[in-house]
Amino acid sequence: MARGIVIGILATLVVIVVLGYAAVELGFMPANADGKASKIERWAARTSLRATIARQAPRTPNPVALTDENLISGIKLYAANCAICHGASDANRSNIAAGLYQSPPQLAKDGVEDDPEGVTFWKIDHGIRFTGMPAFGHTLNDTQIWQLALFLKHMDSLPPGPDRAWKAVKSVGR
Ligand code: HEC
Repeated sequence: MARGIVIGILATLVVIVVLGYAAVELGFMPANADGKASKIERWAARTSLRATIARQAPRTPNPVALTDENLISGIKLYAANCAICHGASDANRSNIAAGLYQSPPQLAKDGVEDDPEGVTFWKIDHGIRFTGMPAFGHTLNDTQIWQLALFLKHMDSLPPGPDRAWKAVKSVGR
């Protein structure tokens, strides 16, 4: 009896693995970037991102001071590295942003001011797997990444000087 149950469970597992393999080999697993993510895909991606960030994101406050100079450095870095996907202050989506899977939020409209800066730091440093969000940890130094996190935290409440610099960033890629 117990032996029958074990064999039954093993046979079921083998069938699931074979069906999964066949689905990938026969082209039934979507590889396109112009569809909608399935529920299970969305659940797995969001849950693993939340759990990884909870474990790894720095909890320390932003070591970069809230000054006009640091905000403007963050804005310049954003214009050069991020605006192509996340938009300028007019939040107009570039063709690249419109074609990406997953869709990058236009941060001027749908920002991350409410997120802890350590969480934003982690996302910029490591990128987000299975999305177009690149890891910048090898190309920008920690100070630059914290300047970006500082700007994103204060994007909706910039002092006049940085606000002018931000409004001057042009939409790209349309
Ligand atoms: C090639 C396109 C691309 C570039 C360039 C890019 N990102 Fe992203 N980014 C994405 C995508 C796509 C997502 C959404 C990922 C997801 O669905 O989880 C994202 C997500 C994010 C998020 C999380 C948003 C949220 O609502 O939680 C932040 C913060 C972010 N990016 C910041 C940046 C910064 C800062 C830069 C520049 C240093 C940058 N990104 C450059 C594509 C890009």
